[in-house]
Amino acid sequence: MNNNDYIIRKENKNDYREVENLNREAFWNLSVPGCSEHYFVHMMRQHKDFIPELAHVIETDGKIVGCVMYCNSLLRDEQGREKTVLTMGPLCVLPGYQRKGYGKALLEHTFKLALDMGYDTVINFGNPDNYVARGYKSCKKYNVCFEGDVFPAALLVKELKEGALDGRKWFYYPSDSDACCDDTEAVEEFDKLFPPKVKAWQPSQEEFFIHSHSVIR
Ligand SMILES: CC(C)(COP(=O)(O)OP(=O)(O)OC[C@H]1O[C@@H](n2cnc3c(N)ncnc32)[C@H](O)[C@@H]1OP(=O)(O)O)[C@@H](O)C(=O)NCCC(=O)NCCS
Repeated sequence: MNNNDYIIRKENKNDYREVENLNREAFWNLSVPGCSEHYFVHMMRQHKDFIPELAHVIETDGKIVGCVMYCNSLLRDEQGREKTVLTMGPLCVLPGYQRKGYGKALLEHTFKLALDMGYDTVINFGNPDNYVARGYKSCKKYNVCFEGDVFPAALLVKELKEGALDGRKWFYYPSDSDACCDDTEAVEEFDKLFPPKVKAWQPSQEEFFIHSHSVIR
């Protein structure tokens, strides 16, 4: 990959099904047998927290090989002061194109746009391996937690503007845009619109379980 062999652009309506299929290909069997991310992005576009200006795709070889979406979420400090932050995800790159820098290019491009739009913080759950090189740190380092002082190991925070979180304790209230994925019947029905795929176990599901059940003390 070099800077001339791809373009990054805003997602448009004609991309919707290709982007949904890309999510399905990238996330299939990764965290659980099958996946729900294709349904998640389909539904997220109508959610009040969705930010269409930041939904971007990366194209090469005449097709979309990566995409990213963002939502508005909330931080609240101990005095009740609130701050809108970005929740990033899903982010994915087509298998076969992964680990070549496309994900990095998409994130760096959209982080710049987000900063221009006035956002100063991005938060998401994820495997730290994918994000620490992009400047993300553990939520513990920024004193960002869930109510009850829970600091999940997979809760990762990036300041787009240094000092934006200024050391005070923040409670994180993520958008509920992913709540649609709890409706497993709706996910199954939506999945029927795509070519058949076999659900199976793979070791990454155990890795996901470990990351998603770990907290930092
Ligand atoms: C995670 C994903 C989006 C990353 O995109 P990508 O294009 O494959 O990754 P990049 O080549 O841009 O590399 C991004 C960073 O990942 C890390 N990375 C790359 N290869 C790695 C490897 N083999 N092992 C561990 N980390 C690796 C590096 O930190 C790299 O940054 P650096 O090159 O500045 O050091 C992509 O692999 C993907 O879609 N995976 C499946 C879906 C998924 O897991 N999405 C994220 C949900 S949390």
